[in-house]
This record gives sequence, C-alpha cells and structure tokens, in this order.
Amino acid sequence: MSEAPQRTGGLFIKKSVAQCQREATNHSLKRTLGPVNLVLLGIGCIIGAGIYVMTGNAAANFAGPAVLLSFIIAGAACGFAGLCYAELASTMPVAGSAYTYSYAAMGELLAWTMGWLLVLEYGVAAATVAVGWSGYVKSFLTDVGLAVPISLASSTIQSAADATGQLVFSATGNINLVAAGGILMVTGLLVLGVSESAQVNNVIVFIKVGVLVAFVLAGVGFIEPANWTPFIPENEGGFKYGVPGVFRAASVIFFAYVGFEAVSTAASEARNPQRDMPIGILGSLFVCTAIYMIVAAVLTGIVPYNQLGVPEPIAVAVDRMGMPTFSFFIKVGAIAGLSSVMLILTYGQSRVFFAMARDGLLPRMFSVIHPKFRTPWKGTILLGGLIAIAAALLPITILGDLVSLGTAFAFAMVCASVLWLRKARPDLHRPFRAPGGVWVPIFGILSAGVLAAPLIIDVIAKAGNGDPIPAYIIGSYLVIGALVYAFYGYKHSRIGHGLEILDDSPLPGVLQAQARGLDEK
Ligand code: ALA
Repeated sequence: MSEAPQRTGGLFIKKSVAQCQREATNHSLKRTLGPVNLVLLGIGCIIGAGIYVMTGNAAANFAGPAVLLSFIIAGAACGFAGLCYAELASTMPVAGSAYTYSYAAMGELLAWTMGWLLVLEYGVAAATVAVGWSGYVKSFLTDVGLAVPISLASSTIQSAADATGQLVFSATGNINLVAAGGILMVTGLLVLGVSESAQVNNVIVFIKVGVLVAFVLAGVGFIEPANWTPFIPENEGGFKYGVPGVFRAASVIFFAYVGFEAVSTAASEARNPQRDMPIGILGSLFVCTAIYMIVAAVLTGIVPYNQLGVPEPIAVAVDRMGMPTFSFFIKVGAIAGLSSVMLILTYGQSRVFFAMARDGLLPRMFSVIHPKFRTPWKGTILLGGLIAIAAALLPITILGDLVSLGTAFAFAMVCASVLWLRKARPDLHRPFRAPGGVWVPIFGILSAGVLAAPLIIDVIAKAGNGDPIPAYIIGSYLVIGALVYAFYGYKHSRIGHGLEILDDSPLPGVLQAQARGLDEK
C-alpha cells in the first residue's frame, strides 16, 4: 500500500461552504414544495416505532400516564433543534446533512464525531424500529395461525425493570431473526434504488396516520378513567415514576421524533423557505406531538400503564377491545408504517457513510456507486448487515437509549454549528434564519442536555450496579470511531490534504424522491 501524502491541515480543518454548496444533492430540483407538502414529508419520516412501540416502555417503566408530558418536553427540544437544522439546510443543502454542516462550521474532528454519531442514530434507530416491527409481525402471524417461536422473534439480550426502574439485562438463547429479516429486506430495496418507491412511501404515510386515528376513534369507548390515576405515579426511586421518570421517559420517546430533520433536507426545494421551513418543521412536530399525546392517552386509558412494557403495546390495547377484524387492520397498518421508517433510517445512514467515504474519512469503496442501480451499494450492504445483527441481538430498550443519546449530541452540535457559522460567516446567504437571535440555538443545546442527562446518569448507574452492557456498547462504539479516524480518516482525508472531493455529483435520494412524489399528488 502506498504511503499517504503529508496532511496540510490540522484536526480542525474546515470544508469550505462553496464546496458544500457544490455537493448539494438537490440543486437540480425545482422549488415546488409548499407548506402542506413539507408537513406531510415530516410526518412521514417521524411516525414509527416511537409511538407504536416505545410509548409502552416509557409509560410502564418511567412515567405512567404522565408520558403525555414527556411527549411535550421531547417535542419542544426537537422544535429548537429543528429550526437550527432548517437554517443550516437552507444555507448548505448537502448530502450527509448534519455531518457536512459540522465539517464546514466546526472542522474535521467534530464533523467525524457528528458523522459517527449520525451513523449510530440512524443505524441503531433502524434496528430499533425493526425490533418493534418484529413484535407486530409476530402478533399478526399468531392471529392468522402461524405462531412464530419466541426464540426466533425476540432478542438474545433481554431486559426487565427492577423495583427502582433500573433495567436489568440477561442473555438468552433467542435470536430475533424476524427483525434481522426486515432489515435485510429493506437493505435489498435500498441497493436496488428506492426512489422508484416514492409513491408507495406516500401511501404508507397515510396508512400509518390512519391506523393511529382509527385506534383513537375505536379506543375512546374502551377507556377506563381510573387507569389515568395517579397521573404522575409516586417516585419509587431512581427514574421509576415521579418527575424524574417524566424526564427519563422524555429521553426514551425522544426517539419518536427522530426523522423530522428530513424536512430540513428539502430546504432547497421549498417554494418559500423563509416562511415554509418553520411551518414544515414545527407543523410536523406539532401534528405528531398532538397525535402522540392523544394515542398515549387512549393507550394508558385502555391498558393499566404497568402492563404496557411490551414490544407491541397498541396491539395489546386493540386485543383488549375484542374486535378481531379491526385488530387485523391495525397490525397490518403498523407493519406497513414501520417498514417505511426502517427504509428511511437505513437510507439516511448509508448516505452519511457515503458522504464520509467521499471525503476520504472512510474507505473509498463505501462511496462507489453501483453502475446500474446508482446507489452506494457496498456501504449499504455492510451497514445493513451490521444493523441486522444489532436487531437480532439487542432489546429495544438498549437500542432506543443509544439512539436518543446519539441524537441528543447530534442536535447539540447542529445548534452549535448555527451559532458558530453566524459569527464566522455572517455574509452567507441564509434563505431561512431561525428566529429569536441566539436563543433558539442556545435553548436547543440546553434541551438536548436535559434529554441526554437521564440517559447518561442511567448508563453510569447501570455500569455501577454490575450491568455494564449499555456502557460497553457506547464505549466500544466511540473507541472504534476514534481508532478508525486516527488510523484511517485522518490519514486519508481529502480536505486535510488540500484535495478536491473526487466526485461531487449528486445522488438521487429517498427524501427528494419522496418530496417529488408528494408534489405530484
Ligand atoms: N421517529 C421514528 C420512529 O418513531 C424514528 O420510529
């Protein structure tokens, strides 16, 4: 192997904004999206396992019926970060989004960290959704007489909450092949080029919202108001209930909002970004928060909160209603909705990986485009395989916490990039600027900290209690990242060597395709 040439830039070398703008994925797209399209795009990317799966765990283990408040806390944090995303996206509409913003604003080391966290966020989120998906698939197959053995549809590592709300983990002989199969299916679609399925995605958006609306309408009559009291159950120690539990639950269901950044990537397609980006981002967050709160209220009204710690809480509630046909449709809708979120998240991860490889920070083979399908197939297959393994082995509780932690850091860095770029490059044209001066980014950083804090405390407490699995996963992920950067990325960075990016031609993207699909409606 030939020796890499000497670097000309340090750890904090920045990618120029001009280079970022050249890499824009969507500069050839027309400005066609209006506010309704943007809100729909956001809802399509947001609603998934968060509401279909994790609300149950958040209510059962942490917040009780007060999980409604947790949705408001998490939604507000996402609102601040969302406005910052929109500002950066309108200035630099690029592939790899937040990773590339950090490269321009804060330099290579932090961009690497951001990229590595985003791969965690999207990849682990896809695994999380797959685990939820497997719960609904299993429940559906059981209904049609095809019972899947539990050993093939539940994770190798299992978790259960102890008396203080601490999750205790244990290893079993199970392996969640159903979840892994779901990820491999989605990976195959992505390798073949998903943009053709944009219309299908749009239909799925309507199905998954329809399922939740139908659940609420049918479920209202089955609510037992007694299940809502006490609204905030008394704290039983640690994060088990009480106000600490409400915040811990917010950090769990923060996951339910992941994906709204997708709206920001459509900034250069918005007809009127200054007006429509905040409407798209805040509108989709608002609609989803309202849907989530209403669904959570009905769910905790039908099933006592302490019985909701299952992978398919909505299916459990529907089964209690005793309407088999309705239950069938709800489960099919949930499976379709979760499939589309798995697809979008796996796509997002492969594109961050692609952007990093194109910059020389990861081996070049991961940015090679398949000659026929026009997709970064090698990176997609590698990452799809890793996500499938994670989905087979890990329970949704560990996976969800990893996503929330990665996302909180990514949000804080996006907000910090806005502050930095405004100071360093006040001259840049910003089609959209977050309102309120410095306050939106500052509140964004603070609220990301509020959401990350219970997770960090919990991970440390678990490690102290002889339950180090989450600490091992997070620690080893960060150590592997540091090693890859030190021994590969730093030496091969194209920006670090004063080189242009080899191929900055834009790729078709699922989000752009989805946006076009919405526009054609
Ligand atoms: N927000 C997405 C979900 O809940 C990731 O599945």
